[in-house]
Amino acid sequence: MPPTLALALVSVATGVLSPVLGKLSTLLEKKYSSLKGVGDEILALRDELSSMNALLLKLADIDDLDVQVKEWRNQIRELSYEIEDCIDDFVRRVEQRDPDKRKNMKGFFQESIHKLRTLGARSEIASKILKLKARVDHAGERRKRYNFDGVASSSSMVVHIDPRLPALYAESESLVGIDEPRDELIEWLAVGEGNSVSKVKVVSVVGLGGLGKTTLARQVYGKIGEQFDCRAFVSVSQKPDMRKILRSILTAVTGIEHYPGIEGYDEEQLINKLRWFLNDKRYFVVIDDIWSTLAWPTIRCALLENKLSNRILITTRITSVARSCCSPDYSNVYEMKPLSDVYAGKLFEKRIFGEDQCPSQLKDVSSDILRKCGGLPLAVISIASLLASKPCTADQWERYRNYIGSPFEDVSSVSNMQKILALSYNDLPHYLKTCLLYLSMFPEDFVIPRDQLVRRWIAEGFISTYGGQRLEQVGYSYYNELINRSMIMPATQQWDRKAAFCRVHDVILDLIVSKSIDENFVMIFGNNNHTWGPQDKARRLLLDWRDQDNTMAPSSMDLSKARSFSTYGSSEHMPLLSDFQALRMIYIENSSLENHYFEDIGRLFQLKYLGLSGVRISKLPDQIGELQQLETLELRGTGIKELSKNIVRLKKLVFLYASNVRLFEGIGNMKALQEVRYVKVDSSTPTTCLDELGNLTELRYLGIDWLVSDTSSDQKSYTDIFVACIVRLCRFKFRYLNIGCDVRNGMSLDFLVNWSPPPCQLQNFVMRSGYHFPRIPEWVALLSNVTLLDMNINPVGEEVLRILGCLPYLQSLALNTTEILAGEALIICSSGFQSLEDFFFNWNISMGPLVFEVGAMPKLARFVYRLVARCVGSACGDLYLGLQQLPSLKHLFVDIDCRGANAEEVQNTEAAIRSAADLTLSHLRIDFSKLWMDEMAKNDDAVSVEGSEHRGGEGHAETSTKVLLEQHFRIFSV
Ligand SMILES: *[C@@H]1O[C@H](CO)[C@@H](O)[C@H](O)[C@H]1NC(C)=O
Ligand SMILES: *[C@@H]1O[C@H](CO)[C@@H](O)[C@H](O)[C@H]1NC(C)=O
Ligand SMILES: *[C@@H]1O[C@H](CO)[C@@H](O)[C@H](O)[C@H]1NC(C)=O
Repeated sequence: MPPTLALALVSVATGVLSPVLGKLSTLLEKKYSSLKGVGDEILALRDELSSMNALLLKLADIDDLDVQVKEWRNQIRELSYEIEDCIDDFVRRVEQRDPDKRKNMKGFFQESIHKLRTLGARSEIASKILKLKARVDHAGERRKRYNFDGVASSSSMVVHIDPRLPALYAESESLVGIDEPRDELIEWLAVGEGNSVSKVKVVSVVGLGGLGKTTLARQVYGKIGEQFDCRAFVSVSQKPDMRKILRSILTAVTGIEHYPGIEGYDEEQLINKLRWFLNDKRYFVVIDDIWSTLAWPTIRCALLENKLSNRILITTRITSVARSCCSPDYSNVYEMKPLSDVYAGKLFEKRIFGEDQCPSQLKDVSSDILRKCGGLPLAVISIASLLASKPCTADQWERYRNYIGSPFEDVSSVSNMQKILALSYNDLPHYLKTCLLYLSMFPEDFVIPRDQLVRRWIAEGFISTYGGQRLEQVGYSYYNELINRSMIMPATQQWDRKAAFCRVHDVILDLIVSKSIDENFVMIFGNNNHTWGPQDKARRLLLDWRDQDNTMAPSSMDLSKARSFSTYGSSEHMPLLSDFQALRMIYIENSSLENHYFEDIGRLFQLKYLGLSGVRISKLPDQIGELQQLETLELRGTGIKELSKNIVRLKKLVFLYASNVRLFEGIGNMKALQEVRYVKVDSSTPTTCLDELGNLTELRYLGIDWLVSDTSSDQKSYTDIFVACIVRLCRFKFRYLNIGCDVRNGMSLDFLVNWSPPPCQLQNFVMRSGYHFPRIPEWVALLSNVTLLDMNINPVGEEVLRILGCLPYLQSLALNTTEILAGEALIICSSGFQSLEDFFFNWNISMGPLVFEVGAMPKLARFVYRLVARCVGSACGDLYLGLQQLPSLKHLFVDIDCRGANAEEVQNTEAAIRSAADLTLSHLRIDFSKLWMDEMAKNDDAVSVEGSEHRGGEGHAETSTKVLLEQHFRIFSV
């Protein structure tokens, strides 16, 4: 690719022109024979567009565009969309050899050029543009920041999450200065405790957006949550979905991540379940960010009064809401204060300099900048993240200070913060702006899965690579860069280095949404009222039906040119697929659509991404095979058991996620496949499918459910072929294996114990399900590059720990066991586990001690283990003494298994842990989770929840440590 073009590709503000330019160039390069006579036009069009693009880029750097210039920009943009659609259509026809098309195309290109030229030639506008150009050139310094070389080189570099950031979001999520308000709030909550019949107490925290209310609430929750029998932390969006809120509370208080049947419950059933469960328990519930009092009576009704000193904490920006939730105890409204200068300064320096000091020449300017932040942590972190990505010179900082405004101007802190956020946005390189704007395609208050986001960016054409990097890698770099610039926040907790999920702060989302609408980038229905000009065509459409009553239907809108369509929740007003013609991306979540909705999907020949989640259809139409551009097919929680045979015609499919779907014949033809997740192999699967699988040279990731019974007569031929298939794949690019089997129905993975020849190249190996290896397989020792292992072994003894301890690159280890080899002590020897950072050990303190020799696990930062409340002895104390040997340990997660224990035993367990920890490990952060509380011993019939131990990768509820761990261990960076 010529370098100038590559630059253009990464630098277009709205993500329109870049794909067009790329496609025009491809057209030229391919020298289609049928292009004779059109080539010149294409060349001319490309040149014209390139010069427009250069101008658009400059315009993108100017904050307040003149109305006319804006109009001009909009016309270019809309024209570009049309040109792209047309090229795609053209290419398809050329590939299908349609001779008539050529003549039409010639006309089309000529007309496009004409339109562009007239657009450029309108004299008034042209002179305005010249003036703007002059302005831009004057601001020479400022333009240097958008240094194209910089942009190009930074995008070819892998960006990791800034190591200073976890310190902020994480271990001490105790953003500086939060201890005082936290302790004060805890006191407020405590008042009135100890009365034998103490009523529920509601405390409201009120304050501006960006003040850190959520962080404060999380802190309080983390600090005192475990003193309650059960607890929940739930975020409410501006338009609350009552069922969703109640479901979140129910999953959180019960600690059951896949509560059976929960999706089907209506409001009343959910309330009843909650009241029944909470009846005899002391609870603590945080409701974060309430916008109106409408939802409140329902929540109050579900959280029943049982006179056990329950506590409810709410946060809101609105004083009247705060008051009405506490009513009649208005004294329980806690007004959150801005950070003091000292603390704001500390936060600022910590983000930029980490442990180092602020250089003296920057002191003055930094205090000016801080004054503008008005003590709003969001403003402080945003500006600090911006500065952290720049050279630390006084010059540079002064320019930013001047941009935010004079420090002596008296402006409200909110408007200052908006300026700061706008500055952070404007400072993003163009390619990141586009990616960031795209977050407006997700509903408010949504936990966004990283992998999905990156694949959607790819489908939209926002990501380009050169120099052999994979698109995903570049996408992950962009994602990390947005985190580093504090435009998005990692959503999984603290210890999650990989940040597999993210969130957008609602103040920032407002900014993104307003920019997106201004650029006709996205149209949103459901979130808020927005207005559109009559000439606007929807290009990207988000329909958020989760709260139906308030959602307008896009009935009068022209959807034919929309390229992305994303919808959440069900509605009768769902647009039909036949309304669309140019879709590149479809994502549908939790909708009651039926099979026929997708019947003529084949018309959408440009589709690159099709994602369905919680859509209960039973089959995809045969027309799926027409989607020749499809790269991602993601089917989660659908009723689909078999894919159409035509699926194998999808030659460009890279990513196939289809849980519960059987491995199918012809998969060997899908040469582009890189990831296949959760396909089933059972005795009715032809063995040739496995053979074919072994031919996929691009395959990197395989998730498979092994359902061939050990007793079936041809079991051996299946296992032999499978083992050979993996070994063959390993010779290509294969690195990740995730395998499950159904133990209850007589299936096992015994055949993997003697795997020969071994899959030495594996980097991740994960076992799902309850199958345990009877001993550690010999091949494990040969996985010299493995970084993540999740294995079930029974029993575990010295040998297991010795072998695993020798794997040089092992960073994350989950070891599940229920049995320790008789007479063996579990010793982690001094040279063991030199790279390990995360250790999930599903063993039980009561089974015997775990001993860490000095020097073992020098990098271990996060350690998770489980205690069974029924049988905790004095063992904890010894363990904690051992943990003191671990120099990098920062965070302990303790899961308390409550099954069969009575309330007193659970309490004693906690007390024992806390007192042991206080003595020896006071510097550590410790989080407790109580699991299976619904199966505690009590007189009622305990609900036995089938499958509550299921550890599938679906759903994003953040309810317990375990779930967080699941996310950490099950979702892989590729
Ligand atoms: C949206 O518009 C309707 C009708 O104009 C109005 O009643 C409603 O309050 C508006 N909602 C928001 C969130 O602005
Ligand atoms: C795998 O590929 C080889 C070589 O390309 C071919 O000969 C063989 O038939 C393929 N096997 C299957 C099962 O498709
Ligand atoms: C481990 O990784 C290195 C570097 O990428 C590679 O050269 C080596 O072949 C790998 N070893 C195995 C067993 O795959």
